[in-house]
Amino acid sequence: MLITEIKCENLSKSFSGKNIFKNFSFNFTSGSSAVITGRNGSGKSTLVKVISNLIQPSKGKISVKINDKQIPGTDYFRYTGLVSPYLNLYDELTGIENLTFFYELKSDGKSTESEKNERIEFYLNKVNMYERRNDVIRTYSTGMKQKLKIAFALMNQPEILILDEPGSNLDKEGKDLIKNICDEQKEKGLLILATNNDREKEYCSEIINIEDYK
Ligand SMILES: Nc1ncnc2c1ncn2[C@@H]1O[C@H](COP(=O)(O)OP(=O)(O)OP(=O)(O)O)[C@@H](O)[C@H]1O
Ligand SMILES: [Mg+2]
Repeated sequence: MLITEIKCENLSKSFSGKNIFKNFSFNFTSGSSAVITGRNGSGKSTLVKVISNLIQPSKGKISVKINDKQIPGTDYFRYTGLVSPYLNLYDELTGIENLTFFYELKSDGKSTESEKNERIEFYLNKVNMYERRNDVIRTYSTGMKQKLKIAFALMNQPEILILDEPGSNLDKEGKDLIKNICDEQKEKGLLILATNNDREKEYCSEIINIEDYK
């Protein structure tokens, strides 16, 4: 297993002068897993976006190291799989087209055509969406879109897996799948889970209440 470390030092985020969280310091390391919890609007997704380098913190520093090598912010996405309500797939492309497009972007053309196809097929099957792979996303149900987002996050086998409300719109089978994915990720990398769901909160070894950083 690669040694992955995300070091957050005194992170603060405010929007138009309104403080969302402040002085958040935490070391996430591979082999560990953490839940970010807190009420609706408390700042879970905002912290996830800062950790994923989608937005910048107002103050503080975040650094990512893999096997002691510093990863530039612009490259985080290659090592990160993110499932979140604010990440959208291309509605007019099919499931398999969405996955193929982003697989290539993330892997930087480093895998062969057959490796790519095998990998995408594997993850489509894992989320039980293989049968619908040639349908455009706009025709998917909400739960199906969520499942495709999960395949999307997993297909590059990221060192860092960040799940923001992964169970939303999923049925029992989908929620069991989330449990299985979390267990697998804990074996091979780092897992960060933002949720208020009591069952999901049990999946991680550490718990962060974002309301402690107001
Ligand atoms: N781009 C933005 N501009 C201004 N305010 C924002 C922005 N993004 C988030 N906020 C505010 O930051 C606060 C935290 O929002 P956030 O989405 O992080 O909460 P959350 O804990 O993820 O909530 P939920 O449980 O509903 O998903 C909210 O008050 C929200 O309105
Ligand atoms: Mg949220």
